[in-house]
Amino acid sequence: MKNLIFNFSLFICLSLSSNELILSPKNILDVNNGEIYTADILIKDGVIKKIGKNLSSNTNIEVINLRNMTLIPGLMDAHVHLIGNNELNGYESLAESTQMATLYGVKNAKNTLMAGFTTVRNVGAGEFADVALRDAINNGIIDGPNMFVSGPALSITGGHGDNNLLPYSHNHDHGDHYIVDSPWEARKAVRLNRKFGADLIKFTATGGVMSKNTDVNARQFTSQEMISIVDEAHSHGMKVAAHAHGLEGIITAIKAGVDSIEHASYINEEGIKLAIENGTYLSMDIYVSDYILGEGAKKGILEESLAKERIVGKIQRENFKLAQSKGVLMVFGTDAGIFNHGDNAKQFKYMVRWGMTSLEAIQAATINTAKLFGIEERVGKIEEGYQADIVGVSANPLDDISVLESTLFVMKKGKVYKKYSDSLK
Ligand code: ARG
Repeated sequence: MKNLIFNFSLFICLSLSSNELILSPKNILDVNNGEIYTADILIKDGVIKKIGKNLSSNTNIEVINLRNMTLIPGLMDAHVHLIGNNELNGYESLAESTQMATLYGVKNAKNTLMAGFTTVRNVGAGEFADVALRDAINNGIIDGPNMFVSGPALSITGGHGDNNLLPYSHNHDHGDHYIVDSPWEARKAVRLNRKFGADLIKFTATGGVMSKNTDVNARQFTSQEMISIVDEAHSHGMKVAAHAHGLEGIITAIKAGVDSIEHASYINEEGIKLAIENGTYLSMDIYVSDYILGEGAKKGILEESLAKERIVGKIQRENFKLAQSKGVLMVFGTDAGIFNHGDNAKQFKYMVRWGMTSLEAIQAATINTAKLFGIEERVGKIEEGYQADIVGVSANPLDDISVLESTLFVMKKGKVYKKYSDSLK
């Protein structure tokens, strides 16, 4: 019996100490103000317990030497599509099973995490594959970022989320989107999404670039329908993301009370003012245009989409600059899934080129995105009490934003997923 007690206490000791570790970096970026300082970070049970000088000397806690790195909070992307093989374009994905799409999701989730994106919002997935992916990650079955998921996005008949111009004989429901055409159908779709585990609601308030026979400038859903979606979602504490390129859709969605406008390409001064007054976040994917126009034809993106992109991309960037100069709430959202998962950070230099300081671009992907997700009290900063989502890069990203494209160290909830030596293998 004595022996048993001894063994038991030894076991507790070991397991407690293995929950603690210390990161000893060259320096840390304070994303609140851009200051760089030198300190060690003590992590326990996935949370940052203490930040201070020389915590790593005279200790028997495991120390991870990161003296060649600057640490920043784990990055966040508010607009990704992890489910599916992103090489499929046009209607090729109609031949992809949900099972196969989900398996690609496993790979995509890992690539996203390894790139330093520790939290993402997945906006639109068929048959709740995103719910399964999120839960598998949370249960430690597979590696991936923290996920907020929408389940199927809501679209009108013939809208951005529908499969348009197929023969009438193919006119059957597909799990990818809910096709809803009235306020009550909209409420029911929100309720179903909640029932099956979605965290948030996504709907398409205008046509899109990648959909067939839709006009990016045409509003989709009536004001009443949008109000119903938002009211139903908010009454359950769910946030709402509205895909909207054209101005009328943007304004109608903001007035209906959505939490974020995705793309926001044709936003103008009036729309920006309205977004500021309503506290609406803009998630403007200003990198993807160059990818679509550069690689799209080779990858099988429809000519109709390329033609739309030639117009939308430029306008979106100019309006990003305008919105930023007016002080809108801007988050980091990329539409990864059109381009390869893991290339998300390529958008940073575009945000800087189009009017942000490097610090503002990093804040968009940390502090601001955390606020949109409603997790700013525990995620998005390197501070005591925050979740240990931490990324290491080779230099101060305020001097060279492109270092974010090749992270050397990735930790999520206190667990190390990538260390520089791993990436050399
Ligand atoms: N999913 C979006 C759509 O199909 C992609 C837009 C990409 N283009 C852009 N300039 N952001 O509408």
